[in-house]
Amino acid sequence: MRKSQASSIHSSRYIATALALAIVVGPAFAASLKSIMSDMRDNTTSAKAVLANFDGASAKQVLQRYASEAQAASDMFAGQGGAKEKDLRARFKQLAAMADAASQAPQNKAAFRKAFTEVASECRSCHTAYK
Ligand code: HEC
Repeated sequence: MRKSQASSIHSSRYIATALALAIVVGPAFAASLKSIMSDMRDNTTSAKAVLANFDGASAKQVLQRYASEAQAASDMFAGQGGAKEKDLRARFKQLAAMADAASQAPQNKAAFRKAFTEVASECRSCHTAYK
């Protein structure tokens, strides 16, 4: 119990730090889409490790990380007028909301597998359209 609380505090700090950096660094130096994508790939590696060897605190962290990465990607397209940019923003926003909701639900292996399958299908669907 203590352990899972501590790691959830760590994740919140991670997200807060990422947000603070995004604000301080500003758009000119903000992470590129490519770097967010490779971060998502790393997180997918973590997700597979959690599926192979489940623990609830790590599952929560993986989902929170997807949520903050997707939010950061969505923010990159804020205020951009093109149809493609608007769609990318909406898709990332939707992924962020979904991962965030899943991270707040009680974690067990079946729920995590379901959430991960949904995330992966968002990755695929967007890559089919735009990558
Ligand atoms: C809303 C759209 C969208 C979603 C959702 C999305 N991607 Fe991407 N992804 C892209 C686009 C666009 C590119 C091409 C970026 C470029 O080349 O600049 C890309 C590229 C990538 C790349 C190649 C990066 C490189 O170095 O060239 C990886 C890896 C990747 N995505 C992983 C993921 C994973 C894993 C997920 C899901 C967790 C995901 N993406 C979700 C749009 C998306």
